[in-house]
Amino acid sequence: MCHQGLIEILLDAKKIVALTGAGISAESGIPTFRGSGGLWEGYPVEKVATVEGFERDPELVWRFYDEMRINIARAEPNEAHMVLAKMENHYDLWVITQNIDGLHTRAGSRNVIELHGNIWRTKCTECGRVDYNYDVPLREIPPKCGKCGGLLRPDVVWFGEPVYDADKAYKLSEECDVMFVIGTSAQVYPAAYLPRVAWSHGAKIVEINLEKTPVSRYADFVIRKPATVAMREIYQGLLGAFQGE
Ligand code: OAD
Ligand code: ZN
Repeated sequence: MCHQGLIEILLDAKKIVALTGAGISAESGIPTFRGSGGLWEGYPVEKVATVEGFERDPELVWRFYDEMRINIARAEPNEAHMVLAKMENHYDLWVITQNIDGLHTRAGSRNVIELHGNIWRTKCTECGRVDYNYDVPLREIPPKCGKCGGLLRPDVVWFGEPVYDADKAYKLSEECDVMFVIGTSAQVYPAAYLPRVAWSHGAKIVEINLEKTPVSRYADFVIRKPATVAMREIYQGLLGAFQGE
């Protein structure tokens, strides 16, 4: 079995963090943001992922998110999400995700930090009320607040806005023994700091990504395989080791 050194480290580990990005959901059929065929190719970031863009054209922004919601509603969590959920039974494991698709929770993970919010939540730009909305497609674009009639926005984090639960994410990163960094280009901050934080506090860093990223330079293990394949192999290796104990 490959990844033998990694399995040995995992056998000793107690606290694990998995920092995930769009690449973990790619095999569920949800496009990533960057690269060819990436989401940002069709929609300029400044139009659909900034407050200014939203203020200028809320309808365009909502059409973009409505399309994404339709896609996500059709998608299923994949084996990489599933393995992380199962690993919660063996470890003090937290998923810190940049994804807004909610697939980690659907896969059964309970300890999930959604740094960039959740596409199924709306927030009122007038009264601040946060609600869940699962309509696919949306009934009105742009949707309005059920309480005050104000314009709703997706409760997701746009460029220039603070991420959710940053303090907790930093603390978990400082304390973990192993950090998996799965399917993220590690270009968007503060998420991209977290592997550095973990590494500088002595955690082993395991990157799972098809391509080189800034994390590759200091990661202890670099696995250049699709997330589902890598996570399946790791879980099989772990099960074998647990049974051999
Ligand atoms: P990106 O689209 O920047 O990066 C996706 C990464 O996943 C790339 O490094 C790919 O090489 C890798 N990848 C693709 N398919 C893979 C697979 N099957 N297995 C493993 N790796 C794979 O996505 P993020 O890093 O998540 O934020 O982007 C971060 C943030 O940028 C997003 O949360 C979003 C965007 O701006 C906001 O909208 C606030
Ligand atoms: Zn309102």
